[in-house]
Amino acid sequence: MSNAASFGIHDLSFATTEYVLSHAALAEYNGTEIGKYHIGIGQRSMSVCAADEDIVTLGAAAAAPIIARHGSERIRTVVFATESSIDQAKSAGIYVHSLLGLQSACRVVELKQACYGATAALQFAIGLVRRDPDQQVLVIASDVSKYELDSPGEATQGAAAVAMLVSADPALVCIENASGLFTADVMDFWRPNYRTTALVDGQESVEAYLQAVAGSWKDYGEQGGRTLDEFAAFCYHQPFTKMAYKAHRHLLNHAGHSADQADIEHAIGQTVAYNTSIGNSYTASVYLALAALLDQADDLTDRPIGFLSYGSGSVAEFFAGTAVPGYREHLRTAANLAAIARRKPVDHARYRELHEWSFPADGGDHPTPQQTTGPFRLAGVSGHKRIYQAR
Ligand code: COA
Repeated sequence: MSNAASFGIHDLSFATTEYVLSHAALAEYNGTEIGKYHIGIGQRSMSVCAADEDIVTLGAAAAAPIIARHGSERIRTVVFATESSIDQAKSAGIYVHSLLGLQSACRVVELKQACYGATAALQFAIGLVRRDPDQQVLVIASDVSKYELDSPGEATQGAAAVAMLVSADPALVCIENASGLFTADVMDFWRPNYRTTALVDGQESVEAYLQAVAGSWKDYGEQGGRTLDEFAAFCYHQPFTKMAYKAHRHLLNHAGHSADQADIEHAIGQTVAYNTSIGNSYTASVYLALAALLDQADDLTDRPIGFLSYGSGSVAEFFAGTAVPGYREHLRTAANLAAIARRKPVDHARYRELHEWSFPADGGDHPTPQQTTGPFRLAGVSGHKRIYQAR
């Protein structure tokens, strides 16, 4: 057993969808002034799933490069975090485990708490690797954010998966012990089992988020956390990227700091690049913010990064990580940019068709049209069973 002193994110990879809808196309359709989308909520486009893509195909596509780089011998746990679950009983992670050929000596579970679930997965994973530093945990955050057509939430959809290999002596980011927690019973965003689209009270969700920022920051201080001015940057959950700016302004005001626009831009600006183009990816969002920051920042070696993970309903956690010396050699910047650039634009009519696509629930054989060019696809359902294929 090694004498590991630090624990955290050893590798991070993400995947997104086959298609993309621009907010310009959405605005043209619904008559919205484009400034509302580009400036008001900070979104340029949203990832749109092909009929043969879902949280499993995205999650497997995100994790495959990690397995290719590190092998899977040390992975004895897979935690799949999602809001957009495809089954009430079986973990989506088991399909990914199968598609990636992981060993049978492995525990696989799914975690749910809206957009917060992946942070719980990361913290639980660190607990496991602390117990046995020879083991690694594969954390997958995968979500398809879907609201009703023509609803206010529609402009804040998106889809992506982030996979993280959690280990002792990580190569990318060490996660520190101090962690600030906040839970409150609020109905700002939820999805009853019988619905495929989420329900949201937009203004309530912004208020609940801001309250959770203050609450988790207060607890973080009480747990012996760092002071605000120690942080090089802040990765916030980004249901829409403007939210990160609102949240940071709120945190600065709450902590009695001046909320200068240039300082806020400095703290947030490099974290929004991927989410502004991908849209909301729920559990994956805060870790896409991290990917964008690491890919773009000059050098963050040994610098503390603040994380604010928020999941409606609600649970929030503020914690810190430091970039590990040499981390830049392990980044996947070119692949990350390619995942975003490879998406094919769809027009508004095609987007609506894809949005409304669903399988009949009659237990028959229902193959899906071949659309995705990604490494994995949902080939269909048969006898109420989902069938996945590596392409
Ligand atoms: N140019 C620039 N800004 C503009 C504009 C224009 N032409 N028109 C409007 N805006 C601004 C508004 O002033 C507002 O900014 P502010 O929030 O800083 O005041 C912003 O655009 C949004 O306008 P609003 O009227 O609030 O939009 P909306 O009623 O369509 O709601 C959301 C926007 C984000 C609340 C809605 O899309 C939503 O509910 N999304 C889901 C949120 C979510 O995911 N929550 C759960 C997880 S936290």
